[in-house]
Amino acid sequence: MTKIRIAIQKSGRLNEESLQILKDCGISIDNGKDQLKASSRNFPMEVFYLRNGDIPQYLRDGVVDIAIIGENVLIEKGEDISIAERLGFSKCKVSLAVPKSVKYNSVQDFQGKRIATSYPNTVLNYLKGKGVTADLHIINGSVEIAPNIGLADAICDIVSSGSTLFKNNLKEVEVMLTSEAVLAVSPKITTERKELLEKLQFRIQSVLRARG
Ligand code: PRP
Ligand code: MG
Repeated sequence: MTKIRIAIQKSGRLNEESLQILKDCGISIDNGKDQLKASSRNFPMEVFYLRNGDIPQYLRDGVVDIAIIGENVLIEKGEDISIAERLGFSKCKVSLAVPKSVKYNSVQDFQGKRIATSYPNTVLNYLKGKGVTADLHIINGSVEIAPNIGLADAICDIVSSGSTLFKNNLKEVEVMLTSEAVLAVSPKITTERKELLEKLQFRIQSVLRARG
């Protein structure tokens, strides 16, 4: 039997709510904690637990058919991948921040500055649009520590509650984009699996309506 293959964040902020929305859709997944692959008992679906940043490539290659992923990750790495549904959870911003003590005037202040980030494409596009060139330092996590250890003058990262910025004595000065979890679709999805996607979308839409 054909199954639709869905990628879900292995760990991190999207994992729980992604599984919850499937559950609310009446899809139960046998979930061995350390298993990277699981199946549903009552819907033709296979779940792959993957690292966030790898998911756009898996979609592109057609290794998975669909994914629940932060729109911000698609903007950074998967502009070619289409969105079937906006899911309304995991809302966040991708922002530029500087040390609290810095007097900030405008985005022009970033000219020639060192910016630490895990979102190089997003930052470059944003700054390019403003005619600003900066020196990017790409790091994969704990980005907010960079100004405090002298690695960078500023950072660009996800802002959700704002508490990571606050704890690291940083202030948000430019919001580059707002994001939420989305259901993304592989350009290589087959017709058969597209039918399963339609069934899933029908359920998701009623869950989202009920959530209001
Ligand atoms: C994420 C993100 C920010 C923080 C934002 O980091 O990179 O640092 O959460 O959330 P907040 O505004 O609610 O504080 P995460 O904790 O996932 O760790 P990582 O950066 O090491 O991946
Ligand atoms: Mg972080």
